[in-house]
Amino acid sequence: MRRPLIAGNWKMHKTVGEAIELVAALKRELYDERKTEIVVCPPFTALGAVGEMLEGSVIRLGAQDCYWETEGAYTGAVSPRMLRDAGCAFVILGHSERRRSFGETNETVGRKIAAALAEGLTPIVCVGETLEKREQGVTDEIIRKQLDGCFAARDEGVLRACVIAYEPVWAIGTGRTATSAQAAAVHALIRMWARERHGQGAADALRVIYGGSVTADTIKGIMREDGIDGALVGGASLDAASFCRIVRYYT
Ligand code: PGA
Repeated sequence: MRRPLIAGNWKMHKTVGEAIELVAALKRELYDERKTEIVVCPPFTALGAVGEMLEGSVIRLGAQDCYWETEGAYTGAVSPRMLRDAGCAFVILGHSERRRSFGETNETVGRKIAAALAEGLTPIVCVGETLEKREQGVTDEIIRKQLDGCFAARDEGVLRACVIAYEPVWAIGTGRTATSAQAAAVHALIRMWARERHGQGAADALRVIYGGSVTADTIKGIMREDGIDGALVGGASLDAASFCRIVRYYT
């Protein structure tokens, strides 16, 4: 019922030329992919060029962040309207790297979600605990707090229009993937949170994807879990062959 989603988060990698090269290879390999919904999230500078290349393709474009205002004197910021104009359909919000290095909070993520939705973008909202919190045994509490903070508006329509990415901070870029069981437990918690708020229908419809050192070798085990609907892939999305294998995890 929920279509699997594999999104590549390129982070601060790839010049325009390198982005074009990678996307050309992805288009060649994945042109007939129907089962998995595919998203690539290049840096802002490459969005326009990649957006043009993806016109009419099954691969969709996403950005890695946005601001909540539409336009104005906000030096360095990029608005949802600009992302839409560049061809984006998705935007990653609340990534732990933005929370850690750029002062992102649940409150600002909430504002960005509203602004992105107003432009018709699908937010991929990231939540996840640090190693310290996991070891303290407060993972569930942290995830709930992030979800409550990001979705403070308590609007069912908002949640239905979003994808949630569970990304344990200790698994990002470390080569240390959460076990399928660890990931599945938090995914179940996120779905329970959605059910408590908006009922079974909303919980069943919500796509919850996993992120954190996903590779072509680990994706199968992750996707075998019931409540895991896809992956947000960092490092392994920078190489065409490995990203294609992840997209086609079911073969
Ligand atoms: P990683 O990054 O796959 O390199 O761990 C995932 C992410 O941060 O989205």
